[in-house]
Amino acid sequence: MASKLGAVAIVLAVMAVVLALNPPTHLLRPPPIPGAHDCLHASKVVPVGGTHGPESLTFDPSGGGPYAGVADGQILKWEGDERGWVNFAFTSSQRKECTRPFAPELEHVCGRPLGLRFDKKTGDLYIADAYFGLMVVGPDGGLATLVANQAEGEPFRFTNDLDIDESEDVIYFTDSSTTYHRRQFLNAFLSGNRTGRLMKYDKSSKGLKVLLRGLAFPNGVALSKDGLFLLVAESATGRILRLWLKGPNAGKFDIFADLPGYPDNIKRNSRGEFWVALHAKKGPVLRFLLSNSLIGNFALRLPISLQKLHLLLVGGKAEATAVKLGKEGEILEVVEDKEGKTVQFISEVEERDNKLWIGSVMRPFIGIYDLN
Ligand SMILES: *[C@@H]1O[C@H](CO)[C@@H](O)[C@H](O)[C@H]1NC(C)=O
Repeated sequence: MASKLGAVAIVLAVMAVVLALNPPTHLLRPPPIPGAHDCLHASKVVPVGGTHGPESLTFDPSGGGPYAGVADGQILKWEGDERGWVNFAFTSSQRKECTRPFAPELEHVCGRPLGLRFDKKTGDLYIADAYFGLMVVGPDGGLATLVANQAEGEPFRFTNDLDIDESEDVIYFTDSSTTYHRRQFLNAFLSGNRTGRLMKYDKSSKGLKVLLRGLAFPNGVALSKDGLFLLVAESATGRILRLWLKGPNAGKFDIFADLPGYPDNIKRNSRGEFWVALHAKKGPVLRFLLSNSLIGNFALRLPISLQKLHLLLVGGKAEATAVKLGKEGEILEVVEDKEGKTVQFISEVEERDNKLWIGSVMRPFIGIYDLN
């Protein structure tokens, strides 16, 4: 134990020196992913009307949208080139102070809608609000109402994403941490505090069940096309977990994919494949910081701003990467904006109408990439 701590101390000291010397960032950059297509720089960007951070995008059952939750707590709807984005819904009734496009210190007041999905049967929009929990708003929008904000007596701190199984009338959703809020996402990511959970909400009985616990930053959720399994992105391990819902293995989970980066949201396409947006690729800095929670916690205490720490983690460069997975978890395709020319830090990719619709939790626009 003592020698282990000694080794960690030496490693930390070396790291601090390296940091202080401000090394050439090319040494810190993640290695390229073999076979990746550097094409996403050809995306078109559409600003989200002076707001910021459209993490998740969704379309209503009649194809309207996209809809996007943004950093000031609004859920916006795109109504075409002429009208642009209009306010569709919000999760907080106290919106007086919520006028700034990006104010993390007000997120617990204004709400922070992350995952969005329409129930195709009812037209209701379900919302994973990072601060308030699972919420719902009717087809006409307005103020959302609460569905659930705790499970097993433990409040949600960082509700993140959801998917709906309309045939079973159930909703699956994640809470990334019971310790840290969304604005402390770097703590949730680096501290080794595995308190994330996956829940199932039954609409008819209103019952709530915890399906998986002790997860390392569970994030995006997607149901398989046949409803046999559910995927959960585990951001801090860079993996996708598969939870079997039906069949002989029901209730068991395994590793569906070990990714070349740290995943955010997952969206299934019409062929039953899955697009996974990677917040960052696996590179030397993050591999090192995540290798031991002492190192991760040390990094969180470095006297640098969160923005600086974040940029250091990703190897000094904002870029975009997404992976398409087959039904067995095999990587079918990797697309990138390698130099981050057009899109960066993407959080979601949805394939629809032969386009990729791209969300980003850290940028003031969505991206649209034409697959033709
Ligand atoms: C997470 O952090 C909280 C607050 O420090 C602590 O009470 C809890 O035991 C930690 N859980 C794990 C699994 O590390």
